[in-house]
Amino acid sequence: MYIESPRYTERFGSVRINDVQKVVALDSGLKSEIPPYGAMGVIKISEETIKSFEDKMAIVIPNKNEKLKLFEGVVSGVPHDCLVIVVSNSQREDIDRFRMEKDTLNQMCRYTYRQAFIIHQKDTLVAEAMKHAGYSKLLDENGLIRDGKAEGMVIGLLMAKLAEKEYVGFVDADNYSPGAILEYVRNYAAGFSMANSPYAMVRILWHYKPKFSGGLYFKKWGRVSETTNRCFNSLVSFRTSFETNIIKTGNAGEHAMSLKLAELLPYASGYAVEPQELISIFEQFGGTLPSSHIDVMKHGVELFQIETRNPHLHEEKGLDHLQEMLLGGLSTVYHSPLCDNETKQLILSQLTSQKALKSKQKPPKPYLNPPPCEIDIQKFVKFIEPHVKNYSALQE
Ligand code: GDD
Ligand code: MG
Repeated sequence: MYIESPRYTERFGSVRINDVQKVVALDSGLKSEIPPYGAMGVIKISEETIKSFEDKMAIVIPNKNEKLKLFEGVVSGVPHDCLVIVVSNSQREDIDRFRMEKDTLNQMCRYTYRQAFIIHQKDTLVAEAMKHAGYSKLLDENGLIRDGKAEGMVIGLLMAKLAEKEYVGFVDADNYSPGAILEYVRNYAAGFSMANSPYAMVRILWHYKPKFSGGLYFKKWGRVSETTNRCFNSLVSFRTSFETNIIKTGNAGEHAMSLKLAELLPYASGYAVEPQELISIFEQFGGTLPSSHIDVMKHGVELFQIETRNPHLHEEKGLDHLQEMLLGGLSTVYHSPLCDNETKQLILSQLTSQKALKSKQKPPKPYLNPPPCEIDIQKFVKFIEPHVKNYSALQE
């Protein structure tokens, strides 16, 4: 593929935040040559490079009762060499939707000779393994893993660790376009291939997110992402004393990380999860607060924001959903020890004017599932390993 080279990078302590890089062309051919790296402001990322990163990557698909056709399309879009890990919280009573997902995945894996895992979020063995490893904050009062995409992500990334992958990427199951999924994962690979640090994150910015109201309108910025990014940028501006609009992917649900970085971050419940990852990176490695990770400070953390070519076509879930997303995201910024008073006031005024909060209310503190590095990951792996074939999509 051809992608813009990272022409502008802002630094926040040891965090390097690259400005948005657009995908210029989805394919760059086998033979075409361009002048040396960056000479034209465009980088060619060869198929070989992309494939070598895909091979080291697990793609986690969180799924809760999404239409089977969408789920199937999403799986079909994940590059063959990636390990697919489906973490499902779909219903099992009456109509067993999880069973249907499992059958669909099983069939696809058979036809295409690929390996995949599928795990139900309420699986008792996985819950036991988490408890055994000291991850009880992930469990509810019944000893099962709590509901939520973030909790599903944690299961996914521990399974990626078990499979000895180096990178983990996330794609939602409610996407109408398998081709977009293919592109997201290729963009993850492209980002990692440009990273100079083993601690790297790639966040996807959608080219357009079309709206269907009578006709089709190719909308670029939603109100939630605009507001979240603005508040993030206010925090960074205050801390660095230089006004900036570098953050353009505060909410990015589609994102990927090196496992080395993923292990160090907490995973906030609900829609706070992706914004909290960013905030935690700034808190832990931004240089303002003390860091306990000397190795990371030395290498630095690299953030890539990559703008796709494909539009994002997904299930629309209504206004309440948007307000919840805004509140979840901004609560992470509001409650960060890095957040200054001006940014706090901006957050409160945005939340009240967009009716996500009543006046005088404060955003609730996000619930943080602790970073996997704080538990005994090896204990988790040892506990699950003998049962791993139960989660393989290729079993009978
Ligand atoms: N395993 C699991 N467990 N998956 C879940 C759960 C759960 O409890 N709840 C939701 N999911 C799955 C959904 O099925 C979907 O595939 C994905 O997680 C995202 O959930 P949505 O409810 O569709 O979120 P969204 O589309 O409103 O928001 C997306 O984009 C936001 C940024 O624009 C998500 O990716 C958000 O996390 C993100 O902040
Ligand atoms: Mg969705």
